[in-house]
Amino acid sequence: MDFATLKQLPKAELHLHIEGTLEPEMLFQLADKNQVVLPYADIDAVRAAYQFNSLQDFLDLYYQGMSVLQTASDFYDLTWAYLERCQADGVVHTEIFFDPQGHTVRGIAIDVVIDGISRAIAQAHTRLGLSASLIPCFLRHLSEQDALDTWQELQPHLAHFVAVGLDSSELGHPPEKFERVFALVRDAGLKVVAHAGEEGPAAYILGALDSLKANRIDHGVRCLEDKALVDRLVAEQIPLTVCPFSNIKLKVFADLASSNLQALLDAGLCVTINSDDPAYFGGYINDNILQVAAAQQLNDEQIRVLLGNSFKASFLPEEQKQAFL
Ligand code: ADE
Ligand code: ZN
Repeated sequence: MDFATLKQLPKAELHLHIEGTLEPEMLFQLADKNQVVLPYADIDAVRAAYQFNSLQDFLDLYYQGMSVLQTASDFYDLTWAYLERCQADGVVHTEIFFDPQGHTVRGIAIDVVIDGISRAIAQAHTRLGLSASLIPCFLRHLSEQDALDTWQELQPHLAHFVAVGLDSSELGHPPEKFERVFALVRDAGLKVVAHAGEEGPAAYILGALDSLKANRIDHGVRCLEDKALVDRLVAEQIPLTVCPFSNIKLKVFADLASSNLQALLDAGLCVTINSDDPAYFGGYINDNILQVAAAQQLNDEQIRVLLGNSFKASFLPEEQKQAFL
């Protein structure tokens, strides 16, 4: 399939951190406006710094990048730029992650963050004809109490959210640590997603299912290490939101050819392809799809299955999903 064909096929994106769409140009522009001193001389130096050996290596720069986001209009500009990109890429629905604690820890009020992001989302509905929903994620390297406090702060804004997620440094922070706060999330009628089996073992995926009752697993590529887990993910049709460029940049796999996408599909898993943090990992959704398809020798029918899965795995109301299937 060529780029022009893929671009015009409708698709949903289900694993995208809005803070990870902060392109170096906007990073500099906002740093200038908000008088934040960056440790880079210019845009080329930023791009050169985006070489990571692990998830933590990346997260250190990702949290540093967030420091330029200070006003509601900064969050609006960031989100609007991504949503315009969605329109150009044939993304008709997107479920956007954001990290409340990444901002409140710097003294930015949660209302400021949500006001800016949700204004861009509302405008995308009317001006771009695309739908977007929001998923706040708890940072798993912080304490359970911090997540519980954040959940309290989010209460006035629950109508904006379809789900709550779990992200940040995986190793050493298993899902069980957040069992109680996600019980509250479910009681509030929200879905649950969790990063699991990215750097962490298959046991963390099991933990996300059993302790958090996750409806969808973000990444999940290490599930193949546990045959019984794969059988369960297939039987329950728990989707995996796979992010090929991310996995290469963070050294989960050496290259796209040695990633396990074909094997995940062959196992009967409901796999979707997403861009995760495109400004840091070198490409948006269509580049991820086309390059991994080429490296894994996926045929056009398999690409269409991946696009269908993106709607099946979404939290869109059933009748809206059906319109795309
Ligand atoms: N936050 C942003 N991107 C992430 C990823 N790929 N894994 C965990 N936390 C993240
Ligand atoms: Zn992610």
